[in-house]
Amino acid sequence: MKPTLLLSLCALVTLSLQSRSPESCECELSSTQPFPHDKLNTSEKNVEDCNNNVSPQKALELETLLLGLERRLPQLEADISELERDDDGQLYGVLALYVIQNELTEIRLLMEKLNTTMTMHRQQARDTAEQISAIRAELQELETYDTLQVVKRDQTNQRLKRDLDQCRKGQDPIAPPTLPPHGSCPHGRFQNVSGPRIFTPGEYPGSFKYGAWGRDPKPVAGKENWHWYVPLVSSNRFAHYVRLYSTLSSLVVGVSVPGNVIIHASNPATNTVQGPNVVMYAGALYYNCYNLDAVCRFNLTSKTVTNVPLPKGTRFNSKGNFCNLEECFPFTDLDLATDESGVWVVYTTTQDHGNLVLSRVEEGTEGLQLGQTWYTSVYKQAVTNTFMVCGVLYATRSISKDTEEIFYSYDTATGQEKFNIGIYFKKLFPNIYSLNYSPVDQMLHSYAEANMVSYKVVFV
Ligand SMILES: *[C@@H]1O[C@H](CO)[C@@H](O)[C@H](O)[C@H]1NC(C)=O
Ligand SMILES: *[C@@H]1O[C@H](CO)[C@@H](O)[C@H](O)[C@H]1NC(C)=O
Ligand SMILES: *[C@@H]1O[C@H](CO)[C@@H](O)[C@H](O)[C@H]1NC(C)=O
Ligand SMILES: *[C@@H]1O[C@H](CO)[C@@H](O)[C@H](O)[C@H]1NC(C)=O
Repeated sequence: MKPTLLLSLCALVTLSLQSRSPESCECELSSTQPFPHDKLNTSEKNVEDCNNNVSPQKALELETLLLGLERRLPQLEADISELERDDDGQLYGVLALYVIQNELTEIRLLMEKLNTTMTMHRQQARDTAEQISAIRAELQELETYDTLQVVKRDQTNQRLKRDLDQCRKGQDPIAPPTLPPHGSCPHGRFQNVSGPRIFTPGEYPGSFKYGAWGRDPKPVAGKENWHWYVPLVSSNRFAHYVRLYSTLSSLVVGVSVPGNVIIHASNPATNTVQGPNVVMYAGALYYNCYNLDAVCRFNLTSKTVTNVPLPKGTRFNSKGNFCNLEECFPFTDLDLATDESGVWVVYTTTQDHGNLVLSRVEEGTEGLQLGQTWYTSVYKQAVTNTFMVCGVLYATRSISKDTEEIFYSYDTATGQEKFNIGIYFKKLFPNIYSLNYSPVDQMLHSYAEANMVSYKVVFV
C-alpha cells in the first residue's frame, strides 16, 4: 500500500520547472486533499465481513431441507391412501393413524425449519447485496485518488497472481487436514441427533435391502460435493461397484452422472465387497474383503485394491454380526467408520469374547496397516451399529421398530466407557444396516432396508 500511496500522492503534485534558473527547481502542491486511509480501512473490513457471511454450507442446508420435504410428501400420500384402503367402514387403524400423525409432525417441523432458514437466507441475501453495493460505491470513490492508475495496475497484477496461485494449488494434492487433538471436537461436544433430515429410496427404490452411502470426508479436488452409494447387489452379501452422484440432489432424484466405478467384473471374486458397512475416504473405498478377515481398500483413481489383515481370531464370514433382539444382520462382521481424523474398523474376536474391538486403519511405510487398537466391554450382538465422532466410538441398539438409541460410547483419548448415553432418534424403517458419520457436514448417514436416511449431529 505504501509505495502505491506515495505514487498516488505524487500524482497530486504538479512539477513546475522554473526554466530561467537551471540549477534550482520548485515543487508546487496543487491539491491538498489527503488520501482517506480510514475509508479504505472500513471498506476492507466490510469486504471481510461480507465474505464471512456467505458460505456453501448455508446453501446445502436449504437444499437438504427441501429434499427432505419433497420426499416425505409422497410418502405421506401413500400412507394415507393405504389407510383409506384399509378402512373397514368403521374405525381407521389406530396404529396407522399414529404413524401418519407422526409423519405430519415431522413434516410440520421440517417446514418450520425451512421457513426460518429461508427467512434467514433472504435477510442475508438482502444484507449482502446492500453491503456489496456500499462497498462498490466506496471503492469507486477511492479510485478517484488513483490519478496515475497505479492501483488499477496493481489490481490487475494481484488478479494475475491469484489466478497463478490457484492454478498451482489445483495441481498439488490437498494438504492433509490437521488432526484434532485427541478427545476434543472442532464442533463442540456431541449432544444429540436431530430427526431425519434426508430421506430417499434413491435410484432403485426397494431394490437393494443392504448397502451404504455417504460423502467422502476428504474428497479428491473437484469432487467435494460427490456422494457415493454401494448397494449389496448379490445375495444381500456382495457388491462389486461404487455408484457416484455429483451432488446430494442427484442422489435423491436418482441421476448418477459419473456412474459406476467397477471393482471387479464378476461377483463374488477376490476383491468383492462383503457386507454393508463400507466407507469412502480420500477417494478410496474401505470394506470387508470377500471371504477374508481383512480390510480392503479400493482406490477409485488407480482402480487398485490393497488390504490389511485383522488380528488372528477376528470373527468373519457372518460369525461376528451386529444384532437386534430378533435377528442378527448377515455379514456385518466388520464395520468401517470415518471421523475427523480418518478411518477406523470395528470388529470382534474370539479372544475378546465377542466384545467390540476398535482399530485405526492408516497408511504406513509398508502401505495400508492397522494402527492403535482399543478393547471395549460391550458385546457386539447387543449392538445394531456403530459410528465414530471425534475419536469417540458410539454404539446403538434398537428400542422399537421406530426408535433407535445411542446407548454406549468409548473415548479413545481417555479409555472411558459409558453405557448411559441415552440419545434416542427416530427410524423410518425398523432395521439400520449401516450407519456412518460424515465429518464434512456433521451428518449421520444410515442405510435402512433399501432406504437412505440422514440425521444431523447436534454439538454444544
Ligand atoms: C484498520 O483500523 C484498525 C483500528 O483502527 C486497525 O487495528 C487495523 O490494523 C486497520 N487495518 C488496516 C488494514 O489498516
Ligand atoms: C414463517 O415465519 C414467519 C416469521 O418468521 C411467520 O410469520 C410465518 O407465519 C411463518 N410461516 C409458516 C408457514 O410457518
Ligand atoms: C434431542 O432431540 C430430540 C428431538 O430430536 C429432543 O426431543 C430431545 O429433547 C433432545 N435431547 C436433548 C438432551 O437435547
Ligand atoms: C489412489 O491412486 C492415486 C493414483 O495412483 C494416488 O495418487 C492416490 O494417492 C491413491 N489414493 C489412496 C488413498 O491411496
